[in-house]
Amino acid sequence: MMNALIATRANKCLRSDVLAGLSLRRKRLPSKYFYDAVGSRLFDRITDLPEYYPTRTEIGIMHANAGAISERCGSRCLLIELGAGSATKVRILLDRLDRAAGYVPVDVSGEHLRAAAATLAADYPYLDIVPVVADFTTRFAVPERPSRRRVVYFPGSTIGNFDPPEADALLRRIAHLVGEGGGLLLGVDLRKDPEVLERAYNDAAGVTAAFNRNLLVRINRELGADFDVQAFRHVAYYNREESRIEMHLVSDSEQQATVGSTTFDFRAGESIHTENSYKYDVAELAVRAGACGLRLDDTWTDARGYFAVLHFTATPTA
Ligand code: SAH
Ligand code: AVI
Repeated sequence: MMNALIATRANKCLRSDVLAGLSLRRKRLPSKYFYDAVGSRLFDRITDLPEYYPTRTEIGIMHANAGAISERCGSRCLLIELGAGSATKVRILLDRLDRAAGYVPVDVSGEHLRAAAATLAADYPYLDIVPVVADFTTRFAVPERPSRRRVVYFPGSTIGNFDPPEADALLRRIAHLVGEGGGLLLGVDLRKDPEVLERAYNDAAGVTAAFNRNLLVRINRELGADFDVQAFRHVAYYNREESRIEMHLVSDSEQQATVGSTTFDFRAGESIHTENSYKYDVAELAVRAGACGLRLDDTWTDARGYFAVLHFTATPTA
């Protein structure tokens, strides 16, 4: 009953966001809706693709610096992971941390999160794991646990899926959540050769295309819409001015799609902008984070400079 109620509320948000996004002159859909159970599994397949370097690179950085990173987090810390997904990378931390006070994975993809938490619990039976199904851009309750310090773990460059004002708001929220002296361990994808970037979002096996189109599959299923999914092409390219990969679904022809009682017209070649993935410069990010109450104290990167894992400490609020 409770689950049905939560599902109905979540569907209301999906419906209103979809109707609002498709009513814009330049149609948009929020990328958080990629992650239903199927979308989360497709994302896991993306992380294994030869072209998708970020996951492999971040895991390499974490392994190479596990001791120093865990030391930075400190003993008896309460780890709060935003956008935990399959909760794979956190294992590298958990294997080295000095007595974690608890682990709170937060994700919108409820079924996937619960399964990930159960798998983790089997391997870390001593660890207090409290999964929280929530949109981390909204207020969510963090369970109270006695700890020396709160540390938000935000890997995968998921912060890059937010436009700068939203990302800054998120950084401020994180600073507030961990409190003065608390930490943020952030994984960010760095600017690089656009060819490398574009290959990562246009894989030969078509998994990223399936991930992108799954958004329309989900809208059809959950909102009773009638998108002809195969009539939308996956397009991903690097926008240099904005330092971001943009993903779009582009209509192959003039067509219509109906969501509930609303019909949307598409011109041939018209796009629905489905995702941005910003690529960072560490010095620029440090300045922005500083203005949001987070001081950069450590940077770990890979030999090619493709990705960075950063540790910030929350500064006193004015
Ligand atoms: N942290 C993992 C997964 C990254 S995929 C990794 O580094 O590989 C992004 C994850 O963030 C997905 O699991 C998705 O469901 C979640 N997510 C995206 N937007 C979210 C939001 N607004 N609130 C909560 N979770 C979100
Ligand atoms: C989760 N996020 C950081 C991924 C990214 O690279 O922006 C999502 C993704 N989109 C396409 N491929 C992967």
